[in-house]
Amino acid sequence: MDEILHLEKEFKSKIDQSDNLHKIEQVKSEAFGKNGKIGELFKKITTLQGEDRKNFASNLNKLKDNINNLINSKISLFEQEEINKKLSEDRIDVTLPGRPITFGKIHPVTQVIDEVTAIFGEIGFLVAEGPDVENEYNNFTALNTPPHHPARDMHDTFYLGQNKEILLRTHTSPVQIRTMMSGKPPFKIIAPGRTYRCDSDQTHTPMFHQVEGLHIDKNVNMGHLKGVLDYFIKKFFEVDKIKMRFRPSHFPFTEPSAEVDIGYELKDGKIVIGEGDKWLEILGCGMVHPNVLKNCKVNTSVYQGYAFGIGIDRLAMLKYGINDLRSFFETDVRWLEHYGFDPLDIPANYRGYSR
Ligand code: DAH
Repeated sequence: MDEILHLEKEFKSKIDQSDNLHKIEQVKSEAFGKNGKIGELFKKITTLQGEDRKNFASNLNKLKDNINNLINSKISLFEQEEINKKLSEDRIDVTLPGRPITFGKIHPVTQVIDEVTAIFGEIGFLVAEGPDVENEYNNFTALNTPPHHPARDMHDTFYLGQNKEILLRTHTSPVQIRTMMSGKPPFKIIAPGRTYRCDSDQTHTPMFHQVEGLHIDKNVNMGHLKGVLDYFIKKFFEVDKIKMRFRPSHFPFTEPSAEVDIGYELKDGKIVIGEGDKWLEILGCGMVHPNVLKNCKVNTSVYQGYAFGIGIDRLAMLKYGINDLRSFFETDVRWLEHYGFDPLDIPANYRGYSR
């Protein structure tokens, strides 16, 4: 009997001292596991007789049940505690606001390229492309630009390599050459893209954007050029009337050449296109020089046409009231959020919903 009382005392105190699941499980296996102390004591029953045996067995069973209950209830206590801890840590607060869905913005330059492409697309111009890294021939020579021309100066052009054969294109006009060299007339293309010059101030950046236009066919004349530009400018600036003037100019690759100004006025410090008596230069154009056509193996006794080059960044600045060109390229997300455009496929109820 002493042994039973002794074990009871021992295990009760061990159970008391177990302060975590691991410890109590150890106590359990010490009591009832293989060679467990309580389990072992059952063997002793066979060594006893009569009343002693009966009493011993009955007390031992009581001890077993008692200790077993104590251990099990402590185990379930610890398990419950563990579950509660997990629940409180993993708790989902359903009252928190949902995570905002964020959308990026379209850069004004990309937006304007899309608008320009759509407008010219409506009247039959295809989009052509050329590389930013051009050869000297396509950028200058084929465009009738002689070696002494100031555009070829080191101060204006980024040359790559030593012998000035490779450069960053200074305009999108080489796409005219690439288009005519790789196909047969008629040609009716626009070519938007990046262009580069050694220049940097409020209205000039080393990289900027242009869109080139080229229309070559049998009877294309300057009247068509005027009509197309008039149509484009009205559509682009979303006005019904426009004042437009062709100012005689010079480009090596056109003859005659002109620069085009559009009328504007200042209202509350803002430029309003189409009215007023002030003039703003927006593009260069002309009839493609016969030398350029010959360089591209176009038969000049059958074909002729016009070309134009427009500064895209300038269009964006004018249309959307942005006054520092450099801000276009500073990659400031706050700027983009202010001046950028929502992608067309954002559902209306998400518009303006960003970070
Ligand atoms: N390439 C000229 C420039 O960058 C712009 C230009 C003028 C393009 C007249 C043309 C054109 O196609 O006909 O200044």
